[in-house]
Amino acid sequence: MTALSVNINKLALLRNSRGHNNPNLLHFASRFLQLGAQGITVHPRPDQRHVRREDVPVLAALLTQFPGREFNVEGYPSADFMDMVLAAKPHQCTLVPDADNQLTSDHGWDLRRPLPWLRERVQQLQQQGIRVSLFLDPAVEQVQLAADLGVERIELYTEAYATDYGSSQQATTLAGYAEAVRTAQRLGLGVNAGHDLNLTNLASLLAVGGILEVSIGHALTIECIEQGLVSVIQKYLQICSAH
Ligand code: PXP
Repeated sequence: MTALSVNINKLALLRNSRGHNNPNLLHFASRFLQLGAQGITVHPRPDQRHVRREDVPVLAALLTQFPGREFNVEGYPSADFMDMVLAAKPHQCTLVPDADNQLTSDHGWDLRRPLPWLRERVQQLQQQGIRVSLFLDPAVEQVQLAADLGVERIELYTEAYATDYGSSQQATTLAGYAEAVRTAQRLGLGVNAGHDLNLTNLASLLAVGGILEVSIGHALTIECIEQGLVSVIQKYLQICSAH
């Protein structure tokens, strides 16, 4: 079964646009968890336009009320980010090679040149009992290098899959993801996936097998507006539980 971690960044964006606490992130995170989502993901960016630094410990505390569910914090491992994550101690930290002003994550780590500072930060997180995942393009060489770095998981960047979904390229692109998943499994790495996933394209990605978690935010938020939150979460959970 694949775990669904709901990314609540877009709810934070809506909240921040008015300066009050509406929508309330704690309320919506609780609703997603009560409806059965296995986790909550946040990606606090340096410009604080989405989830803010101060939201992170509050959400971490909420997750303690939901045993077995996971809190995943994503971001570039700057000194500030590391301090925030080490203090909040989420279950998982997904490290992303984002620039400061990036609109959204649009590439995985390039591990071909040695990044000793990254290894050090991975170890700092692991020493606090935080599972570490690295955001990666679906490239076998990168998966192998991630294993060398000692992380527990990788998160495959699925924008290319989502773009090719429904086109003549879909099978070829999906085969590349399947190869990356198999390589990771052979090397003892768990595999997560995320970016641009939605109710339409998720099932055929999960059909490759072995994907432990998906984190989904942008499309899920839009689908909730159109179809209602209860129905959308139920549909996601149905797809995730079938794989
Ligand atoms: N994974 C990472 C590393 C991300 O940066 C994002 C977007 O915040 C997601 C997954 C989720 O992507 P989407 O919002 O398109 O579902």
